[in-house]
Amino acid sequence: MFELNLAVIILAAGQGKRMQSRLPKVLHSIGGRPMLSHVVDTASSLAPDSISIVYGHEGDRIRKRFDRADLRWCLQAERLGTGHAVMQALPGVEATATVLVLYGDVPLIRDETLQLLLAGLKDHTISLLTTIMAEPTGYGRIIRDHAGRVRRIVEEKDATRAEQEITEVNTGILAARAGDLQRWLQRTGNDNAQQEYYLTDCVGLAVEEGGAVHAEICRDADEVRGINDKLQLADVERAYQRRQAMDLMRRGVTVRDPARLDVRGRVSAGRDVTLDVNVILEGNIELGDGASIGPNCVIRDATIGADTEILPNCVIEGARIGAQCRIGPFTRIRPHTSLGHDVRLGNFVEIKASRIDEGSKVNHLSYIGDTEMGSRTNIGAGTIVCNYDGVNKHRTHIGNDVFIGSDVQLVAPVSVGSGATIGAGSTITKDAPPGELTLSRSPQKTIRGWQRPKKDTMIGR
Ligand code: UD1
Ligand code: CA
Repeated sequence: MFELNLAVIILAAGQGKRMQSRLPKVLHSIGGRPMLSHVVDTASSLAPDSISIVYGHEGDRIRKRFDRADLRWCLQAERLGTGHAVMQALPGVEATATVLVLYGDVPLIRDETLQLLLAGLKDHTISLLTTIMAEPTGYGRIIRDHAGRVRRIVEEKDATRAEQEITEVNTGILAARAGDLQRWLQRTGNDNAQQEYYLTDCVGLAVEEGGAVHAEICRDADEVRGINDKLQLADVERAYQRRQAMDLMRRGVTVRDPARLDVRGRVSAGRDVTLDVNVILEGNIELGDGASIGPNCVIRDATIGADTEILPNCVIEGARIGAQCRIGPFTRIRPHTSLGHDVRLGNFVEIKASRIDEGSKVNHLSYIGDTEMGSRTNIGAGTIVCNYDGVNKHRTHIGNDVFIGSDVQLVAPVSVGSGATIGAGSTITKDAPPGELTLSRSPQKTIRGWQRPKKDTMIGR
């Protein structure tokens, strides 16, 4: 870590008109959380003394999303340019502190890159992050002299034809000492094409004073990509997802197609984990050794045990799933569910707020809610737990080694003892004792000689 007194200033006062949205730009999400929170997290990882966020009109909505006491919120009432924006945050920052300027709409910047940028300040007065762009339209260009030293930055709108040919561009991210920035920014005017106070003018002023400028060229264009509209939002999202997939693959996860995986949270994965295509992982996800997730699964806040197989098209939320289970295809698991070892759940089965112990099976077309189920129990096709009486939810208890036939309704609160068998088609409203066959079934009868009605040919004549 750096032995410096570091103050991070994040510019986020842009209106984001081009997003065509009521949501402030920096609250649009990348990887499932506001783009600004990526920048704040990266800034935090540098262990700065302060993080200031320069915000505009929609400040309150933005502040509400960041429940952290350690952020300084600085209002820029009028959007007069990037230099003016930085000035709103400088009061309160020690003159000797190093200021690092970041952007709320440039979310993929990495801390390693920022460390390099800050290291550049050791023997320079200003350190800029630049990048090479084949298509530099819209960006400020880096003007160097014959010796290759940076002299100034010229904004696209103020650049000559020749300057517009330059492909080294300003990412906007820079570092300098607070006292220097304060002095330079007081001297900048707004006599330019956009009538704004440009932060970039500090570079020319530093050079005028005889200061040396360091330019750290960022090799990964994704890191410095900004977001102004929904197209760029989608581009940055893809870049972020590519990064997540690469991270997982480096840690040994087999990702069938890195372009068809979405991570919107934190994933920890053991060895030999496989993720098939179109998987969405949200919140906190733990995948045990050898776990495999089939195509088109959405999994949120879940732990998946070792060697468990999730077959295609499952939706799993808020669940702990044991080892060696087989789930799906087409299973829905809802919050507060926990499954033991070797549990089997099949197609069109919904489980909610239930505990199912080792070796039990619910293979077809069932709803199990608010239930405790023991081990080695088998639930027949179409079995429904009636847990809701229209007002209250009630619990169901099912013991070990129970066999429940097909199409049974268990009207909660009710319990089925261990070793019980329930006959197919029963509606169970009272507790079923252990070890016995219980059924409720109207007797079957046959009406001999009964005839189906025939169409009356006289009607309508
Ligand atoms: C700026 C740089 C340009 C660089 C480009 C990289 C200046 C003068 N130009 O240009 O050299 O290539 O970024 O994307 O700095 N902001 C405020 N308050 C303001 C103005 C801007 O908070 O008054 C914030 C915006 O929300 C945005 C960022 O600063 O996040 C950049 O502002 P923008 O107007 O987009 O700058 P560019 O013209 O793109
Ligand atoms: Ca501008």
